[in-house]
Amino acid sequence: MFAARRTIGLCQRRAFSATASQASKVTVLGAAGGIGQPLSLLMKLNPRVSQLALYDIRGGPGVAADLSHINTNSVVTGHEPTPSGLHEALQGSDIVLIPAGVPRKPGMTRDDLFSTNASIVRDLAKAAADSCPNANILVISNPVNSTVPIVAEVFKSKNVYNPKRIFGVTTLDVLRASRFVSEIKKTDPADEKIPVVGGHSGVTIVPLISQSKHSDITGETLDRLTHRIQFGGDEVVQAKAGAGSATLSMAQAGARFADSLLQASQGVKDVIEPTFVESPIYKSKGIDFVASKVRLGPNGVEEIFPIGEISEYEQKLLDACLVDLKKNIDKGIEFVKANP
Ligand code: 2OP
Repeated sequence: MFAARRTIGLCQRRAFSATASQASKVTVLGAAGGIGQPLSLLMKLNPRVSQLALYDIRGGPGVAADLSHINTNSVVTGHEPTPSGLHEALQGSDIVLIPAGVPRKPGMTRDDLFSTNASIVRDLAKAAADSCPNANILVISNPVNSTVPIVAEVFKSKNVYNPKRIFGVTTLDVLRASRFVSEIKKTDPADEKIPVVGGHSGVTIVPLISQSKHSDITGETLDRLTHRIQFGGDEVVQAKAGAGSATLSMAQAGARFADSLLQASQGVKDVIEPTFVESPIYKSKGIDFVASKVRLGPNGVEEIFPIGEISEYEQKLLDACLVDLKKNIDKGIEFVKANP
């Protein structure tokens, strides 16, 4: 949780034990993949989850059998693309995590994944709209700036669109920001609260260091830090040398965001996370989705916070972000129109 995770303390633990037994079904689509497996493991370890449904084009039942031996109470089921497999994975779900798709190779941007991942996400969104139209949909598959609008368009086409329930997971940018700042400042990253707004790709990722307790980071240090947060994913892609992109840190990010939603839906107050949602902030510029701090509640998005006061440096980053963001969002919307 962005704002209150460390300060809730005892109250949070009380709320936790009082609500952990509430039934919550979580579905992972792409559960046998690089992100899907560690993400499924983390969800199996979360006592707020009562049912965990794991779907993939192959391997879902194997991952489910493996995880089902872990001694937490949730029931794990595995699903394959049989005629009813995807429907059974989704039916009754409260949270659907979508990491399905292909990852980047060195030299690729997230947008280069569009041609493959757009149709995968569109088809999974169709199934979710049919089987669990009221679930929270958490999109991890890249390019998130385009795949979230794709999910929204599919839900609109089926008359079940609820903008409060569709999220792009940008939590990894927040994790990176807090970790990279803590490396510079020699602090505990759990104490660092750095809002990251915009989108989830290169220059669309805008860390707001001026809103943290480290507005003293300036000059070349700020340039390097900002670049590292914006292009942190590339560090992993290069280090993996063709074997994919961030999977373990991305799984942690997805699991943290899912846990925040579970907490909010089970009555914990003041759960605030940056996330990419339909937002009024830049609608006047024709940009319908943007990441900013969002208060989560039992109905999904409860409150979208404005970007707030930012430095001149950050305003320039944001200006560059919005140019790309608009193109990425429009590309997703156009894709569904041309390929319903
Ligand atoms: C990243 O930021 C995989 O998009 C993910 O590394």
